[in-house]
Amino acid sequence: MNIEQLNQEGRELWNQKAQFWDQLHGDAGNRFHRRLIEPSILQLLDLRPGEAVLDIGCGNGALSRRLAELGGSVTAVDYSDGMLDSARARSAGSAHNIDYRLVDATDVDALLRLGLAGFDAIVCSMVLMDIPIIEPIFQASSQLLRSDGRFVFATMHPAFNSNNPVFFHEKEDRDGTMVDRCGIKIHEYIDVQPVKGSGAPGEPVPHYYYHRTFSELLGGAFAAGFVLDGLLEPSFAPEDAETSDYLSWYKLWQIPPVLSGRLRLR
Ligand SMILES: C[S@@+](CC[C@H](N)C(=O)[O-])C[C@H]1O[C@@H](n2cnc3c(N)ncnc32)[C@H](O)[C@@H]1O
Repeated sequence: MNIEQLNQEGRELWNQKAQFWDQLHGDAGNRFHRRLIEPSILQLLDLRPGEAVLDIGCGNGALSRRLAELGGSVTAVDYSDGMLDSARARSAGSAHNIDYRLVDATDVDALLRLGLAGFDAIVCSMVLMDIPIIEPIFQASSQLLRSDGRFVFATMHPAFNSNNPVFFHEKEDRDGTMVDRCGIKIHEYIDVQPVKGSGAPGEPVPHYYYHRTFSELLGGAFAAGFVLDGLLEPSFAPEDAETSDYLSWYKLWQIPPVLSGRLRLR
């Protein structure tokens, strides 16, 4: 399948699961979003009231609404009608006037029509691993941002969470006491082909994930004129490990499932 076909199939799959996603995330996002993704994005973004911010791949708008609450003037785009319907419905009646638009983020021209040098900041939360090609986002963003603007992203951690990690749970006799040992095994990193993943537990249809090494992930940004000036690797806390769900990220506070970064123009 070529990039266009993969992107089109992705759109159909996101439309199919838009309602499930909306129920899972509600107004403010699921636990992953609230604990790891949003705090790291907000820390790197350091949004000031009145700033114009673009949310690329906004889903049901959980982050867009948070940005609006913080005083941002928010434009939010997604290529899924279903996602945008949820986002608009959840934002209806709120004091914040978020400008939701249907835009395919693989289409540079469509992105550029949002307004050259019109944004102080761009956020792209958990989207880069879902898109067959990321260069258009960086190319367009370099022109959508004002010269001192920033681009903040969160994505699945390339080293630990986008290369089909295998969760394990073992029992070990350590000094006469049986202890649980939980972790992940990684078998590949350099060349991982796009593969459909199950996503969050219960997602109705799997969708493609696009693993990128650190150099592939950031290479497109560097080529578009960005430099990286902030990086966070959020993980759960030791208290989250108090769960009987041994084969989950909650047990692995030593291993970050998410990578968040901030890019600025050179
Ligand atoms: C994992 S969800 C993340 C949603 C939201 N940003 C969040 O952090 O909760 C990925 C989103 O990216 C959108 N998306 C994927 N490919 C896209 C594309 N080519 N153009 C625009 N949106 C896209 C999907 O429709 C979906 O809403």
